[in-house]
Amino acid sequence: MSRKLLVMFMAAMLAVMALAAGCGNDKAASTEKVLKVGTNADFAPFEFQGEDGKEYQGFDMDLIRAVGKEMGYKVEISNLNFDGLIPALEAGNIDIAVSGMTINEERLKKVLFSDPYYQSGLSIIVAKDNDAIKTFKDLEGKKVAVQIGTTSAMEVKKLSNVEVKEFNSSADTFMELRAKGVDAVVNDRPVNDYYIMQSGETSVKRLDELLTSEDYGMAISKNNAELQKQVNDALKKLHENGEYDKIFAKWFEAKK
Ligand code: ARG
Repeated sequence: MSRKLLVMFMAAMLAVMALAAGCGNDKAASTEKVLKVGTNADFAPFEFQGEDGKEYQGFDMDLIRAVGKEMGYKVEISNLNFDGLIPALEAGNIDIAVSGMTINEERLKKVLFSDPYYQSGLSIIVAKDNDAIKTFKDLEGKKVAVQIGTTSAMEVKKLSNVEVKEFNSSADTFMELRAKGVDAVVNDRPVNDYYIMQSGETSVKRLDELLTSEDYGMAISKNNAELQKQVNDALKKLHENGEYDKIFAKWFEAKK
């Protein structure tokens, strides 16, 4: 009898130990440092979702995963409206916004930016048979589609007498142009170029003129200078060890 009790006791002890070990593992997993990344994943080749609609792809996505790895963080990406990214940072819902976001004065009042990681600018797309629009000046008196909250929206509004139509995503602006709801789309040059190249869209063309020169940076909450430093250190490392160049070539050079 007492032997039986002893066996039962030992079995119980083993069960408790197994449980404790299990808990230990869970705890290890939950203390893994997580970097909450916000993006607006409709901006190829910087951020977009693959065919299956799940996996986040693009230059920015590869870059932030490499930055996270360098910093020892697990990267968790969520898809938000572009104009919701800075509010999400301010509310502490995300740690960093990586979304082809241009560093500018207005945004610097609200957030910190990493060092610049990509040089961009704004360009125009029009219908192939449109000979009336050749430069930004020609947009006067015309209807132009832009994405809400972007530098395109800000810049086009500065031109006189332009009817600006704002959309939630750049995909929507392209759709509006194809549907002839607008005369032109103003958007970031690499995104316009990628759209024309990848979509095989032959009814539209891109114009060469650039309205602005803009630098992309990763946006971070004002009260997280520590993260800004970690991200800049990681970016510097990736430049030094050739990882940045590899990611750049994957998205920009290989497609030419
Ligand atoms: N560079 C422009 C800006 O900062 C457009 C960025 C849009 N990004 C996006 N993922 N939709 O305003």
